[in-house]
Amino acid sequence: SHDAEPFLPDSPKERSDLDALRRAAAGCRGCGLYENATRTVFGEGSAGGRVVLVGEQPGDQEDRQGHPFVGPAGRVLDRALEEAGIERGDVYVTNAVKHFKFKRQAGGKRRIHETPNVGEMRACRPWLLAELRALDPDVVVVLGATAGKALLGPSFRVTKLRGRLLALPDLETIGTPSAAREIDETPPGEADAQVVATIHPSAVLRAEDRDAVYAGLVDDLGVVAQALR
Ligand code: URA
Ligand code: SF4
Repeated sequence: SHDAEPFLPDSPKERSDLDALRRAAAGCRGCGLYENATRTVFGEGSAGGRVVLVGEQPGDQEDRQGHPFVGPAGRVLDRALEEAGIERGDVYVTNAVKHFKFKRQAGGKRRIHETPNVGEMRACRPWLLAELRALDPDVVVVLGATAGKALLGPSFRVTKLRGRLLALPDLETIGTPSAAREIDETPPGEADAQVVATIHPSAVLRAEDRDAVYAGLVDDLGVVAQALR
């Protein structure tokens, strides 16, 4: 199959061990993105964390350094988490896709981010699912449209769902149209875990009206902080 599945560890014990998963993901060739990127950037953070934040894919800096959210978007995210009152020790950060997808500027050295396609998101999903199973978080935070589609299905729209505490769909249905149906049909309090969607922190950097867009991100993360109390 053209996905990450064959690269996951075989033993159930290793499949629920984040370090074993990280070591296995380093050799993943489940889609074509490993070819041009420097390395797999796996999720990181508190293994006992109650919150898992899911971004899109590593950016240029993340690809160079090998850690998620260490570039400009990561700095926005760190600041917003602190302002919302979410402690770093409670958080694990990861991405829907684990390799940096980019194109080279004509004649230049700069690597320009390209949004992963549906096939790449699907191919990489086994890693995200394994992380979620291993971590069993109370709240999953979806950062932006790519993570939203990867988790909550193709009909996901940030503008429609952001800043609301929703039922986290069953992991078996993650990324499929049934995930969206489950969200619609399950009161958040009845689910074992919740999900909150917000914008991607890089949207703050691109925005004309940075302060307002940033304030919206902090507000949405405040819903997460509230749910953890
Ligand atoms: N953007 C993301 O979505 N993830 C990162 O790790 C960095 C930037
Ligand atoms: Fe494997 Fe995901 Fe990288 Fe594709 S993007 S090679 S599926 S880790």
